[in-house]
Amino acid sequence: MQRRNFLKLSGLSVGAAVSGSSIAGLLVSTTSCKKEHHIGLMTSPVTVTEGNFSKPLSFPAQAGINQTLTAQATAANLNGSTIPVLGYQPNSLLGPTFRVNNGSAVNIFLQNNLSEHTNIHWHGLKIPALMDGHPDQLAMAGGTFRYQFTINQRAGLSWYHPHPHENTGKQVFQGLAGLFIINDAEEAALNLPSGQYEIPLVIQDKRITTTGIAYNPSMEEVMAGYMGESIVVNGIHSPFAEVATRYYRLRMLNGSNARLYNLAFSNNTDMIIIGNDGGLLKNPVTVKDILIAPGERLDVLVNFSGVPVGTELFLVSKEFAHGGTAQGKQSFNILKFKVAVALTDSFTVPASLSVINSIPASSAVKTRLFDISNAMEHHGVPMNNGMQMRHRINGKLFDSSRIDENVSANTTEIWVFDNSKGDEPHPMHLHGVFFQVLDRTGGRGDKIASESGWKDTVLVMPGETVRVLVPFENNKGKFVFHCHNLEHEDDGMMLQYQLS
Ligand code: C2O
Ligand code: CU
Ligand code: CU
Repeated sequence: MQRRNFLKLSGLSVGAAVSGSSIAGLLVSTTSCKKEHHIGLMTSPVTVTEGNFSKPLSFPAQAGINQTLTAQATAANLNGSTIPVLGYQPNSLLGPTFRVNNGSAVNIFLQNNLSEHTNIHWHGLKIPALMDGHPDQLAMAGGTFRYQFTINQRAGLSWYHPHPHENTGKQVFQGLAGLFIINDAEEAALNLPSGQYEIPLVIQDKRITTTGIAYNPSMEEVMAGYMGESIVVNGIHSPFAEVATRYYRLRMLNGSNARLYNLAFSNNTDMIIIGNDGGLLKNPVTVKDILIAPGERLDVLVNFSGVPVGTELFLVSKEFAHGGTAQGKQSFNILKFKVAVALTDSFTVPASLSVINSIPASSAVKTRLFDISNAMEHHGVPMNNGMQMRHRINGKLFDSSRIDENVSANTTEIWVFDNSKGDEPHPMHLHGVFFQVLDRTGGRGDKIASESGWKDTVLVMPGETVRVLVPFENNKGKFVFHCHNLEHEDDGMMLQYQLS
């Protein structure tokens, strides 16, 4: 959405408090539409405020194949005071971290003790449509839902979160999410750092007030996505972790609603990427920084050997380009590492991690084009019909009674996400399937280091068009695909495909 144009056209100034309904009214009266860029009205980024990095990093409880998850109002200590939040654990944000082996039969009972409906989507799990947490499949307030499925996929880091249409953003932001780790024999044979040397990190931003985690997006914040001033890791604001002088495996999820992070280390140490959304890469890739969008995961090795005991360093987010008006303009610290123990470690990074067969583009039987630019001059959507202020895919808003794409089982397709005319980042996510990123044109111009192997979410920056190869298997049913900026998703930037 080109909010600068909108603001000009509607005569609003930034900061004006206007409700959604009066916006619609203003738009109806807007009769002309000229494309004018950079007229000086911009969404200002939410500035990150760091804490003092004095609280130890901790980890959610672990869960296995049988678990009850109670979605509930609870409390958490953030910034020194205990405030109301949501969680699946009795005393904290987030839910337990599942750790299961490939092949396991899983039985998870959701008890909804919220005062509104919810459900759970298993983001990254290839499971039947009726277990996937489709927005139609809900547990009403006080109700329950039983999730039963068998894990049939390679090792990797997935996660879970609510998916009730128009309420996903609020429920996730206020604390409902968790990790789901799958292990298998291929991964075990690599002898990667494990136990205390394998650190799961859920990176999120929150808006912490004395009365709770505020979630009340303005019109502008629906446009850019809702961001918080406080970066929390595993539900803890500005934490620290003590480490030894050896290799660690950091398993990171960007569980934020809208914020992108350009992850790096303050001492510029190498990050060795070994995995992403869909598990291990074929070979490790060494980078100094890497962008991670909401919904994406990264599996990274970092070597603290050679760092003198007593050193303090940070996992940071660096500034980055192409982030639209609201992202990438600030660098900030996320997590402090205190190198506390000298250790010698014999681990060497395997040169080869896994077998990934690249899908030939020529095997695709169909190409589908998705316009995600949301430009005001969107073809097919008139300029003056009062509906411009919504995020759409191909001009359409989510409608659970409409199948947007019919896909044949066991065929490979190319899906094209075209944000070439857009001015906002859109991390696009498909349920029920993993894909390979074929190419990116415009913007960053190429695939980035974490985009080999298997993905379920791909970031499409302003100006970019990204093509992905999707091998649909035999998991028939109705699945959604959407932007994982949760304000965009709740605003309607979600469609459905039927695999049959
Ligand atoms: Cu993590 Cu449909 O999303
Ligand atoms: Cu998902
Ligand atoms: Cu989006």
